[in-house]
Amino acid sequence: MRPFVFHNPTKLIFGEGQLQQLTKEADKLGRKVLLVYGGGSIKRSGLYDQVLGVLADAGCSVVELAGVEPNPRLSTVHRGAELCREHGVDWVLAVGGGSTLDCGKAIAAAARYEGSFWDIVSRKAVVQEALPLGTILTLAATGSEMNSGSVITNEETQEKHGWGSPHVFPRFSILDPAFTATAPKDHTVYGIVDMMSHVFEQYFHHDALTPVQDGFCESVLRAVVDTAPKLVDDLANLEHRGTILYAGTMALNGVLAMGTLGDWANHDMEHALSAVYDIPHGGGLAILFPNWMTYVLDDNVGRFKQFAVNVFDVDTDGRSDREIAEEGIRRLRAFWSSLGAPSRLADYGIDESRLEEMAGKAAPGRKIGNFRKLDEQDVRNIYRMSL
Ligand code: NZQ
Ligand code: ZN
Repeated sequence: MRPFVFHNPTKLIFGEGQLQQLTKEADKLGRKVLLVYGGGSIKRSGLYDQVLGVLADAGCSVVELAGVEPNPRLSTVHRGAELCREHGVDWVLAVGGGSTLDCGKAIAAAARYEGSFWDIVSRKAVVQEALPLGTILTLAATGSEMNSGSVITNEETQEKHGWGSPHVFPRFSILDPAFTATAPKDHTVYGIVDMMSHVFEQYFHHDALTPVQDGFCESVLRAVVDTAPKLVDDLANLEHRGTILYAGTMALNGVLAMGTLGDWANHDMEHALSAVYDIPHGGGLAILFPNWMTYVLDDNVGRFKQFAVNVFDVDTDGRSDREIAEEGIRRLRAFWSSLGAPSRLADYGIDESRLEEMAGKAAPGRKIGNFRKLDEQDVRNIYRMSL
């Protein structure tokens, strides 16, 4: 196990009927709040009215930024930061899916940064301070509700990158399974693929003797594999929504990464893909991840065998380790397809015309990933396998 420091200051408020706790949290953060939300799902579900009601009871005055895009854009971050400055906002409340939360993080930091926020995303500058941020999550997927990461798209250059800062850990996040129950099947499935992918990014490493971490990862994966089909058949089921919501948070709040070196090449490859084609992140991962697994399998067959046996109960009788490992990858593909996830770039109408460009964006003059370090040619190969 590698040395590590773990510090996660986000207060998680989980369960049905917890929205009232927003009053207490608002009391701590100030009276002027920027409410950030997406394209209207919270208005249709009624959550918008509930949140405004609680904020009014708490004596808050509200400035609004509506219309955060899936794959949130730099220009929207700048608009939000400008609103914060203009109105002297005390704190930011992001209500929505991962895109809205990520945009809220970026706005909270951009409000305290002079200059283009792309400086931060492209690592030319570091966040020194940020407005406090609270979140109310409506889609189980990214883990943004309990981590310090955010992913922003520069729509002018078609680049999409993650950035992070300890200053943007949410002060609190309210997670009510009922707020996720209106998520349609496709986005529910993309979220499931995303959270499983987060576990994979942390599970596929070469560190030895990590039984506790392995057990945590496999437990999250098994619970998702067991629950996801039931949820997809019964989207309003709050028990299943709750399991998936909790799994998504645990998948990327730092717990699974303790003491190991994760990979993250699939996320780099997917961010380049959705930067160019603006497709849903989970959809891109569903296409890429099984192909990456096949590509790197021989670097550690034992790890993939363990995954096959412990997550998908693959029968080992009469099979070589490699056959068992390959069966695990097949089962993953079949599982995601059974949920309705895409499996080929062609499912989004994507052909080979921009593969070179995407590979250049994913691995720009450097190698990505750790399980196997991938150069631009490797990335091209994996995109090609995904056509
Ligand atoms: O915009 P609205 O109207 O709210 O609709 C959204 C959006 O169209 C809808 N939706 C969300 N909750 C709903 C709902 N519709 C009905 N009922 C609900 N309860 O779902 C659509 C997708 O939402 P979005 O926020 O884009 O999805 P997701 O949570 O998957 O976030 C994706 C973004 O997060 C980034 C991705 O790259 C992508 O930009 N990621 C962020 C990470 C992080 N901060 O740690 C890590 C991830 O790996 C990921 O890269
Ligand atoms: Zn992800």
